[in-house]
Amino acid sequence: MKLLVVGSGGREHTIIKKLKENPAVETIYALPGNGGIAADAVCVPEIGAKDIPAIVEFAQAHAVDFAVVAPDDPLALGCVDRLHEVGIPCFGPDAKAARIEASKVFSKNLMKKYGIPTAAYEVFNDPAKAMAYLETADFPIVIKADGLALGKGVLIPQNLEEGKAAVKSIMEDKAFGDSGNEIVIEEFLTGPEVSVLAFTDGTAIRPMVSSMDHKRAGDGDTGLNTGGMGTVAPNPYYTAEIAQECMDTIFLPTLAAMRAEGCPFKGCLYFGLMLTPKGPKVIEYNCRFGDPETQVVLPLLKTDLLTVMQAVENETLADLEVEWSDGAAACVILASGGYPGSYEKGKIMTFPESTAANVTIIHAGSKISGDNLVTNGGRVLGITATAPTLKEALADAYAAAATVDFEGKYMRSDIGQRALRAMEEV
Ligand code: AMP
Ligand code: GLY
Repeated sequence: MKLLVVGSGGREHTIIKKLKENPAVETIYALPGNGGIAADAVCVPEIGAKDIPAIVEFAQAHAVDFAVVAPDDPLALGCVDRLHEVGIPCFGPDAKAARIEASKVFSKNLMKKYGIPTAAYEVFNDPAKAMAYLETADFPIVIKADGLALGKGVLIPQNLEEGKAAVKSIMEDKAFGDSGNEIVIEEFLTGPEVSVLAFTDGTAIRPMVSSMDHKRAGDGDTGLNTGGMGTVAPNPYYTAEIAQECMDTIFLPTLAAMRAEGCPFKGCLYFGLMLTPKGPKVIEYNCRFGDPETQVVLPLLKTDLLTVMQAVENETLADLEVEWSDGAAACVILASGGYPGSYEKGKIMTFPESTAANVTIIHAGSKISGDNLVTNGGRVLGITATAPTLKEALADAYAAAATVDFEGKYMRSDIGQRALRAMEEV
């Protein structure tokens, strides 16, 4: 079989490595892929993940049997719709279903209409009205741009002054472009955060192992928000009891709501949850695999990934048992010095001759330059380890992370520490 994966990050590298485990897979094309992915797939750097006509043309010309569209942008732009039109089976939601991530207003209104627990909120398209609302609101409060903003469209002002500045920056100065034409202002919730990714064919659902992201740049969850500096799985806060509650009050009602709205969701639905004192609530939905959650979740998948993805596409997921390892996984991100602010690219990377069997080096932002692999992004590599316990997985991931080098290499030193502390408390 010939497969095609759209995207170029650590998430896509992890998906590709997992798909390769199926012996029926002959070739995987990565559009565009990256320097490290080139060791596992045929990269096509000239076709970007948002160039839908070129992706469709490539898929047809190369007689691709199955396509996986991983990032949010091509999903929201209808990449799956266009591939389906030319008869190519795909994994991923169509554009209508991708609105669950692409429009916060859509997802918040969906949750309100169908009684799915989430933060109380108001929607504004007029900055003056948003400012007036803030005059009477409690702080901290949460302000979200409606559209996709590379995970950066959420601001949490601590007082009225910061709140007004946030509205001005999103709605008037267009810090996130047209994504900020409408905003959601919502209640600030507290509690541990859990990421749950789930395979769904619109009706049946198979949640994956839960995970915990580390979004802030600095140790102790300080500093700026990033795309994610590391992940662990499973998330110790997500007990079997909470998982059942989420299934009954959030997961199944969300799928039913999407069907009722005429846009059944097929693909990987990401539930960003907060375990509040009043029960689990949805912080956000993503219409795709999380990055770097995928790096710790997929290594624990025992069932063949392509088989699961085909069952999603064929709407036969109810007939498939999806199995997971009992162990744990950890991923430590190696970033370019300065990230998430400005940073330099093109630093030569050096790798150990070999790594332990339970360790995988995942490339998020790398490129081939002559005989070298060089840095080509803020998040450069993800060092993932699986082990029977989280403690061992973290030790192995950090040991391997120390053996990889490039100028300016930066990582957090406390990935997984909060999870380890939580396990002692439980
Ligand atoms: P997002 O970019 O949507 O993933 O949001 C970034 C982060 O903002 C989340 O991971 C939460 O930590 C935080 N956040 C979003 N919404 C809320 C909320 N209603 N209450 C508290 N924190 C929130
Ligand atoms: N790690 C969070 C995300 O993928 O949006």
